[in-house]
Amino acid sequence: METIRWEDGFPYILDQTELPVREVIQRIDTVERMVEAIQKLRVRGAPLIGISAAYGLALSARLHRTDPDFAERVSADAKRLAASRPTAVNLFWAIDRCMREILDTHASAGADEAARRALALAEEMKQEDLLINRRLGEFGAGLIEDGDGILTHCNAGALATAGYGTALGVIRAAHEAGKRVHVYADETRPLLQGARLTCWELLRDGIPVTLQADSMAGVLMAQGRIQKVVVGADRIAANGDTANKIGTYSVAVLAKAHGIPFYIAAPVSTIDAKIREGREIPIEFRDMQEMRAFQGIPSAPEGIDAFNPAFDVTPASLIAGIITEKGVFRFPYDFSGL
Ligand code: MRU
Repeated sequence: METIRWEDGFPYILDQTELPVREVIQRIDTVERMVEAIQKLRVRGAPLIGISAAYGLALSARLHRTDPDFAERVSADAKRLAASRPTAVNLFWAIDRCMREILDTHASAGADEAARRALALAEEMKQEDLLINRRLGEFGAGLIEDGDGILTHCNAGALATAGYGTALGVIRAAHEAGKRVHVYADETRPLLQGARLTCWELLRDGIPVTLQADSMAGVLMAQGRIQKVVVGADRIAANGDTANKIGTYSVAVLAKAHGIPFYIAAPVSTIDAKIREGREIPIEFRDMQEMRAFQGIPSAPEGIDAFNPAFDVTPASLIAGIITEKGVFRFPYDFSGL
């Protein structure tokens, strides 16, 4: 399954808002449409948001390559993409990396070459992400035992990345190594990434999975069905505090209460060394309408006040390990050697 690809001058995305009902591929023909796709969660998950922005800049460079104001036009598009969603640091990491390449190449070799390099870099970042997830998966699989029940929240799978996944990459690697694992997928209110996406991709791979409402995680733990929790991350502070999908913090507290190890799986590009602790991480608040209705069907009184942060922060002290492509980090977290 490919979450994003480039063909005949344009990026094409698998529209994740349509899953699991339909597999719809959408051509992105303007940077505005890429911004919309990121905001509406047609493409989502921290690594994939970064890769989508890289393809968005490759498109911008291609569309503006004959414009005398090339650098200004592409820089304006970079600003638009950067304003799409605030929490996943991979977005800003990818935009910075691409813009350095585009502006340096433009200055030394012109706009055509800058557009060519922008696309080559987006393709390279996609391939790199796949390799990172495989590597991270191998490290993580070492923590999983035969017979484990593993709870995950949201979707940190192939759909959230260029492929294979981070948290689900760990689970896939354990499964491929012959360990019998059973995944318990939180449905992940309000947008149901767990129910719609995690269950969909695990079923396709033949990995045993059970769906539960978010409020059922505690009873599963109390019944002894969960031996590990593995989730992804949108931004990790220098002290290890981690922002991930809303509800992750509650799962971490529950895991602590039941003595279950709670792991984060993420590439090192998700670590933001400039941010010292979790409370400095910008948290996205989304439209209240997402809480009042699902896919247009009302689920609450019209106009009700609603609280709708997209992410929460899990304190480092609740995290048993942070699994990256460079190895597993343990509390107290120190990423200064990276
Ligand atoms: O709002 P989303 O669906 O983009 O949120 C995604 C998550 O919170 C993921 O767990 C995180 O980005 C890690 S994806 C490998």
